[in-house]
Amino acid sequence: MELLEAIHQRRAVRDYLPEAPDDATLGALIHAAVQAPSAVDTQPWRFVVVRQRAMLDRIAREAKAWRLRTESSTELRAHLENPGFHIFYNAPALVLIAAEHASPWVIEDCSLAAQNLMLAACDKGLGTCWIGFAQDYLRSAEGKELLGLPAAWVPVAPIIVGRPRALPPPHPRHEPQVRWID
Ligand SMILES: Cc1cc2nc3c(=O)[nH]c(=O)nc-3n(C[C@H](O)[C@H](O)[C@H](O)COP(=O)(O)O)c2cc1C
Repeated sequence: MELLEAIHQRRAVRDYLPEAPDDATLGALIHAAVQAPSAVDTQPWRFVVVRQRAMLDRIAREAKAWRLRTESSTELRAHLENPGFHIFYNAPALVLIAAEHASPWVIEDCSLAAQNLMLAACDKGLGTCWIGFAQDYLRSAEGKELLGLPAAWVPVAPIIVGRPRALPPPHPRHEPQVRWID
């Protein structure tokens, strides 16, 4: 797949087949992720791969409860309060991209790595979705403890990965607003 094709075809996938991608496939996605640029070439990204079903469900449950404590949007609260709503959509794998420590630009660095990972997954026929709902919990002391992460790490991008059962239709983009200064 050409790069531009992947850029245009990538979708946030919310419906997955149960089989998890194997080590080699996830390794290739992570290898693509670390090709991202990083400020002062610090390469602060670290990766956590979760495929254990019980752990995925536990993180999903805890993160949902955590988010409900602070979520102010009525619409999002309604989603979170639905007992059938699994914040990872029962995806078979989660790749968490975290920075090794807090410092300027690590959010940008890890976000660029995340985009590489999502595009590489699309290239391989896999679906992904960044799950912002899980971020606050994963950044908390409780979340880090559950995953055994060092306290200094800054979780940035929880990305679910798997083979799509169904592909969502594209979300049309707004026309870019550009001020040309020639
Ligand atoms: C930072 C970030 C957080 C997101 N959090 C969630 C989330 O918690 N749950 C979800 O279903 N989608 C989440 N998404 C996916 C967006 O909803 C999705 O990218 C957007 O609707 C556009 O659709 P597309 O990616 O298919 O083009 C998130 C995306 C980003 C970039």
